[in-house]
Amino acid sequence: MDKISIIGAGNVGATVANVIAHKDLTREVVLVDIKQGMAEGKALDIWQTSSIMDFNTRVVGVTNDYIRTKGSGVVVITSGLPRKPGMSRDDLIKTNAVIVKEVTEKAVKYSPEAIIIVVSNPLDVMTYCAYLAANKPPQRVFGMAGILDTGRYRAFVAEALNFSPKDILSLSLGGHGDHMVPLPRYTSVNGIPIEQLLDRDTINRIVERTRKGGGEVVELLGTSAWYAPGAAAAQMVEAIVDDQKRIFPCCAYLQGEYGLKDIYMGVPVMLGKHGVERIIEIELNKEEKALLMESANSVKQVMDVLDNMKLFEYNE
Ligand code: NAI
Ligand code: 2OP
Repeated sequence: MDKISIIGAGNVGATVANVIAHKDLTREVVLVDIKQGMAEGKALDIWQTSSIMDFNTRVVGVTNDYIRTKGSGVVVITSGLPRKPGMSRDDLIKTNAVIVKEVTEKAVKYSPEAIIIVVSNPLDVMTYCAYLAANKPPQRVFGMAGILDTGRYRAFVAEALNFSPKDILSLSLGGHGDHMVPLPRYTSVNGIPIEQLLDRDTINRIVERTRKGGGEVVELLGTSAWYAPGAAAAQMVEAIVDDQKRIFPCCAYLQGEYGLKDIYMGVPVMLGKHGVERIIEIELNKEEKALLMESANSVKQVMDVLDNMKLFEYNE
């Protein structure tokens, strides 16, 4: 791929750029930020590791200059406020919706063919906001959360068992919030169900810690995480650039799947060069279905806040 642009050169955006550059997925990464010098500085610093870390990707930064993003194959949106202690992801909506709408419109103007990956919070509703702003098929506009959430979940399971995290396979559904639905029935150590390796209390504790995983980092750092979110977004970019057909939990637009319609939420998808090439419906038991509906309801409440902001013509 010739060019990948990342809007927002803060903690997450710069990390995505850094991981993408290390993987040499593209000829050029363009970082964009509204804050004067921020993107230029981060890009320069990353680019100056190229000879040390042995990559070719040219990393450049610009202040609000979208012409430089022209012709991007993928655009990753990380612009917006992060969480502070005491805030939920949903508290960010009023500020971040305005930012996400504006940057999506600008990015799409110069890269009409780009696939858009949203990272800004509240993730599910910001992805919906970018979808409305981009005016593209939903297969080409989707969000990053599930890889991060399952990354946390897999790390906690690996720690509890003292096994390699590489061998932990897991799935989490639903919105990227405290109502997300990590699924122990779909979690295994290379096929061995974790229920055969961990007792119920330990599994429940891990599920709960995963749900609150973002908040745990916010409490420690005073702002939200970036290494794992950045690596997760870069993994999605890699699946698209290399047309890998990988199966990841991603925030995708549901049009009847899982009994849900007109809502963006985390589900397993196949990612390839066309974006979300397939949504995979898995069998859920009664309890799992109820948890998923609870999560969908909490996403819908935040969608209502977006609707009431009347940012888009359809709800004027
Ligand atoms: P940050 O504050 O470090 O970076 C955000 C950057 O966006 C800042 O540099 C800021 O100047 C820039 N920005 C603001 N308005 C802009 C505009 N109109 N155009 C271009 N740039 C603009 O925040 P961080 O930690 O990088 O987080 C970014 C977003 O990602 C937050 O909303 C955060 O909650 C979210 N997030 C989502 C995760 C997920 O799993 N989906 C995980 C981690 C963070
Ligand atoms: C996270 O989960 C805050 O969404 C961000 O780290």
